[in-house]
Amino acid sequence: MRDVLHVGSGKVRELYALDDDRLLLVASDRISTYDVVLPTEIPDKGCVLTGLSAFWFARTRTLVPNHLLALRADGRSLECRRLEMLPVEVVVRGYLAGSGWTDYARTAEVCGHRLPAGLSESERLPEPIVTPATKAAEGHDLNVTEVEAAAMCGPGHYEAARDAALALYRFAAAHAEERGILLADTKFELGIDDEGVVTLADEAVTPDSSRFWPADDYAPGGPQPSFDKQYVRDWCLASGWDRTPPGPELPPEVVAGTRARYVEAFELLTGTPFDRYLADPEVVLCA
Ligand SMILES: Nc1ncnc2c1ncn2[C@@H]1O[C@H](COP(=O)(O)OP(=O)(O)OP(=O)(O)O)[C@@H](O)[C@H]1O
Ligand SMILES: [Mg+2]
Repeated sequence: MRDVLHVGSGKVRELYALDDDRLLLVASDRISTYDVVLPTEIPDKGCVLTGLSAFWFARTRTLVPNHLLALRADGRSLECRRLEMLPVEVVVRGYLAGSGWTDYARTAEVCGHRLPAGLSESERLPEPIVTPATKAAEGHDLNVTEVEAAAMCGPGHYEAARDAALALYRFAAAHAEERGILLADTKFELGIDDEGVVTLADEAVTPDSSRFWPADDYAPGGPQPSFDKQYVRDWCLASGWDRTPPGPELPPEVVAGTRARYVEAFELLTGTPFDRYLADPEVVLCA
């Protein structure tokens, strides 16, 4: 790309500096499982993530300020405000799944939250809980307690980020449920803008950052089918992969199955056909 400086690569996104205050975030079609980028890409995945994020950014900006400045016509690039990122990711859980369920089954607690006894896997929690994790530079994210997270973020910042994340979760979960999707959990990244305001960044409520369950099939007491990365995670583990690099190549049917799940989540949540989004990305910005 001409005239822009490449400033970093995440597992999924490429970051470019447009100027001192603005970044261009370009979502690739890469997919990672257990923090390992797989050798196989999922066609259009970057556009699904970018379109869904822009959809939520446009609808929640009065609830929580966010970094979105513009959505580009390629459907996978966002111009955004450059923030000082908080050193923790803020996970909100409305249901007991993944590491939340594993921790609860062992200790009856999740990241310092004591929960009622006798909950089963995938059960809805009485209230959503916030379970922060550190953004490890290398390797896997590490769950921490809210007290630890607050100490890492500077005065007042963690509390503001937690309140923002809870408000965003409640908004998105209510919207999703009306469209037949349960938002089991989701992860937010927030940063501080140049006026000191805690601001939503990165991506928002996508199949990469969330567990989406079809509401019709919901049956607590075990794992749920999903519209997210769980399908790929399950395939990778069933293939005998030990969660260390390199990840396995995905066969064509798993690529197609993953793409279909991502696109279905996009269409159900936005109410917009994915092809229409590709033709004119700004459709997701209209209320
Ligand atoms: N507005 C912003 N200002 C500064 N950094 C941002 C902003 N929005 C997102 N980021 C950062 O850009 C990167 C996005 O890339 P990506 O989502 O691929 O990363 P990741 O693999 O999830 O995490 P990591 O960067 O730790 O590898 C993340 O490091 C994220 O924290
Ligand atoms: Mg990310």
